[in-house]
Amino acid sequence: MGYLFKSKASFEAETSRQAMEACEHIISEMGAELHDDLIQRLSVFRLYLDRLESSKNDQTETGSLILSMNADFQEVVQSVRRISRRLLPVKMEQDSFQKGIVMLCQNMERPGGGTIHFEPTGPEQKISSLAENYLFRIIQELIHNALKHSSAWHIWVRLTWVENELTVEVEDDGTGFSKIQEFITALNKKYNTLRMRSNVIGASIHYMQGKRGLLANVNYKFQRT
Ligand SMILES: Nc1ncnc2c1ncn2[C@@H]1O[C@H](COP(=O)(O)OP(=O)(O)OP(=O)(O)O)[C@@H](O)[C@H]1O
Ligand SMILES: [Mg+2]
Repeated sequence: MGYLFKSKASFEAETSRQAMEACEHIISEMGAELHDDLIQRLSVFRLYLDRLESSKNDQTETGSLILSMNADFQEVVQSVRRISRRLLPVKMEQDSFQKGIVMLCQNMERPGGGTIHFEPTGPEQKISSLAENYLFRIIQELIHNALKHSSAWHIWVRLTWVENELTVEVEDDGTGFSKIQEFITALNKKYNTLRMRSNVIGASIHYMQGKRGLLANVNYKFQRT
């Protein structure tokens, strides 16, 4: 009995530690987004103000500065929008899980970065909201990894629905054959947020060699609700 209690307590401690780690992970991603994107874009406005100040008697110069500021301000708004979309609950209430993934693919594309292709197969089925949230985060992290660790031109996000089963594939074309095997071995062993979330909803995650990069495969079997 004492032994059982002890293992339950340590199980809970481990679960809490992992939950905290997952939170930290998301917070640091937000921090990185603020740091790499938004702050850089905003700092430019400091320069604009200085230049406006020094060219206030030159109408042509002022006019062209305002044009540039307008364009850059649009970018700032886009950046804030991207960050708030990541913080907000996954999708609009009325949207389906799959619609949320379509939007995720659109939101994660960056000018000059890879193209994200969304490829659904089969009729979408209803899954639990926990599974929706976790699969959304898993797909988000897989896309993020492809953008961050490979120099992908293309990322394919495939959702394949067959009865009571959803298969998610995220494939990129960014890593050469010679390096891919070592990443696959490491990823198949690693207990990261991807595996943690998969375990919670009873899904399995495997990595393999794609056509020209990494292919992650998440298999989720569910009960019809
Ligand atoms: N799409 C990919 N192409 C090539 N290598 C990858 C890809 N995804 C992951 N990797 C490799 O697997 C490693 C582990 O990925 P994982 O997401 O667990 O951690 P990370 O991305 O390095 O860190 P974090 O996710 O905590 O920011 C990466 O460091 C990278 O070397
Ligand atoms: Mg990662």
